[in-house]
Amino acid sequence: MLRVGLLGAGRIGRVHAQTISAHPQSRLCAVSDAISDAAESLAAEQGGRVSTSDDIIADPSIDAILIATPTDTHSDLIEAATQAGKAVLCEKPIDLNLERALACQAAVSNTDQPVMVGFNRRFDPSFSTLKTAADQGEIGTPEMLSITSFDPAPPPVSYIKVSGGLFRDMMIHDFDMANYLMGRLPVQISAVGSSLVDPEIGRAGDVDTAVVTMTYAGGQIAVIKNSRRAVYGYDQRIEVLGSGGMLQAQNILEHAVVKSTADGVTAAKPTYFFLERYMPAYRAEWDAFVQAVQAGSAMPVTLEDGVAALAMAEAATRSMQSGQPVAIEDVLKPVAK
Ligand SMILES: NC(=O)c1ccc[n+]([C@@H]2O[C@H](COP(=O)([O-])OP(=O)(O)OC[C@H]3O[C@@H](n4cnc5c(N)ncnc54)[C@H](O)[C@@H]3O)[C@@H](O)[C@H]2O)c1
Repeated sequence: MLRVGLLGAGRIGRVHAQTISAHPQSRLCAVSDAISDAAESLAAEQGGRVSTSDDIIADPSIDAILIATPTDTHSDLIEAATQAGKAVLCEKPIDLNLERALACQAAVSNTDQPVMVGFNRRFDPSFSTLKTAADQGEIGTPEMLSITSFDPAPPPVSYIKVSGGLFRDMMIHDFDMANYLMGRLPVQISAVGSSLVDPEIGRAGDVDTAVVTMTYAGGQIAVIKNSRRAVYGYDQRIEVLGSGGMLQAQNILEHAVVKSTADGVTAAKPTYFFLERYMPAYRAEWDAFVQAVQAGSAMPVTLEDGVAALAMAEAATRSMQSGQPVAIEDVLKPVAK
């Protein structure tokens, strides 16, 4: 039985508490939050005692730590937990700053402790099926990847201000998905972005609508489209065009009824947001972590994967600001020691 401490009882911490408690090989033993009421109510629902993050990390009876605190705390908590001998699953991204994320990676490599980064979409049943089919050559050689990722509605501007911007906060999932599906980093990234959804987001210095194109060493192309607003729900689709066909992962709808009348054909909307759409993925992600820790095998998503996605977010940010394509090497080389 894996004894787990959860740091952060906010939106995503509550999801993880459910998956930890429901898993037959893990137990939620302790919960912390900067707001004690949040930790109290989650512990009352899902089990475990309420404590501070420092005490949970220092507790010798805890085997693993799940970090679901705000992004600017991740690197420090990953380092503290691994130095205390714990296995770690940390939410994305590793940090807002690429240099800090690389320093964290170096610190962890001195501890021998396993760390997994929470790129949950790799565990979505549709996306992992698409990945398997592409890897097995079912559409020949993949040549063009298209990822559509639209949120139903923007978060409050207070969240935007500490999020690190759309590329680090939101598109980071899509950068990781591109790396997962293509099996390598792109060589070059170009980005454009606008604030069209909420002028407050623009005034806060961020964009809410963006397109990134990426090119690979073999000439393959990927395009990622993000918007903070889609009035019909959470739009999450992937398409891979290959030399022998195409793979498409479509949206998961609220129900499967299609109505056809003289007026036209209508179907349900996509499930509302990430809590509804990705619940099976969060469960599968946690199961993969538990199995890897118990078997002592490699983590299915590593700190290196987290650094790669963050480097792409950095490249996209620079490209949008300069209006020029950015080589991923130019982002990684100067910070990699
Ligand atoms: N993988 C996903 O689908 C997904 C979805 C949402 C958020 N996230 C990531 O999860 C992280 C948290 O996001 P959220 O939306 O749950 O935020 P949130 O603000 O809802 O929750 C964060 C909680 O952490 C608490 N906290 C702050 N510092 C703490 C500390 N040192 N120790 C313990 N608790 C502390 C806060 O009081 C808050 O309750 C972010 O890094 C975000 O990028 C991932």
